[in-house]
Amino acid sequence: MAFLDEQFSLQGKVAIVTGGTGVLGGAMARGLAHAGAKIGVLGRRTTLAESAAAEICAAGGDALALPADVLDKRHLEGARSAVLERWGRIDILINAAGGNTAAANVLPDGSFFGVSLAAMEQVMALNWTGTLLPTQVFGEPMAAQKSGSIVNISSMAAQRTLTRVIAYASAKAAIDNFTRWLAVELANKYGEGLRVNAIAPGFFIGEQNRAMLLNDDGSLTSRGRSIIDHTPAGRFGDPDDLIATAIWLCSPGARFVNGVVVPVDGGFSTYSGI
Ligand SMILES: NC(=O)c1ccc[n+]([C@@H]2O[C@H](COP(=O)([O-])OP(=O)(O)OC[C@H]3O[C@@H](n4cnc5c(N)ncnc54)[C@H](O)[C@@H]3O)[C@@H](O)[C@H]2O)c1
Repeated sequence: MAFLDEQFSLQGKVAIVTGGTGVLGGAMARGLAHAGAKIGVLGRRTTLAESAAAEICAAGGDALALPADVLDKRHLEGARSAVLERWGRIDILINAAGGNTAAANVLPDGSFFGVSLAAMEQVMALNWTGTLLPTQVFGEPMAAQKSGSIVNISSMAAQRTLTRVIAYASAKAAIDNFTRWLAVELANKYGEGLRVNAIAPGFFIGEQNRAMLLNDDGSLTSRGRSIIDHTPAGRFGDPDDLIATAIWLCSPGARFVNGVVVPVDGGFSTYSGI
């Protein structure tokens, strides 16, 4: 095997990408497939999971649609059975299902004191429980194999204070902490072959945040402008910007990388704004 293949190839690995039907999860799913992994595309909506899996197969990869809600353990166990039946093992889990809702934010004309508890709990559940449960369900066969790579998807909101964003920031901060905790727990109990890391994306245009960042004519909103001004790269991320980091964290060459949160943010997290 060529040296770079030995370091970075995911040939024959079996990967599950939750939220693989979304903008960022979809890009990472396609990227891991190009690196040789077989992909279980997990998403809430059957048609979207099927079309994302079909796209990977049409490009020469091997993929399986896994319609499931990340908050429903029985759905996840069904998806695990389908993957084990088809491919016999699980090597990689990318926890990309997640997101925020407007009702859980504190807008400039709103008040922290009145923000809806139900909305905040919903965001906490999707991001935090929606990472914990798939990790329990898909991580178990990895523990039995004593090998595997789990990559959680965090956010800049976990490490830098973003106005408005409250519950989402708390949930992603919990994911950073969980990433470090589980990295230690799994390596201690099952050996160095089992690793847990996270990616903290900067700002990418997605369906959920488009209206907050761009006006109808495509120009920047004032919040979008402020983000670009604080991003040394001077642009929003492109979903494909995440692919190489996802492949690297899951690759054989990253075997000594465990418990880290890697920013892929065009420099946002390191910039003081001055
Ligand atoms: N877009 C950004 O700028 C950005 C920045 C930092 C972090 N993130 C994080 O990256 C991840 C992906 O975000 P995105 O922008 O691609 O969003 P997205 O909305 O395009 O993708 C999220 C996907 O998760 C799926 N999903 C939602 N709830 C689910 C559930 N209960 N069960 C199963 N699937 C469910 C959705 O159907 C969707 O396909 C999220 O965790 C998000 O918080 C996004």
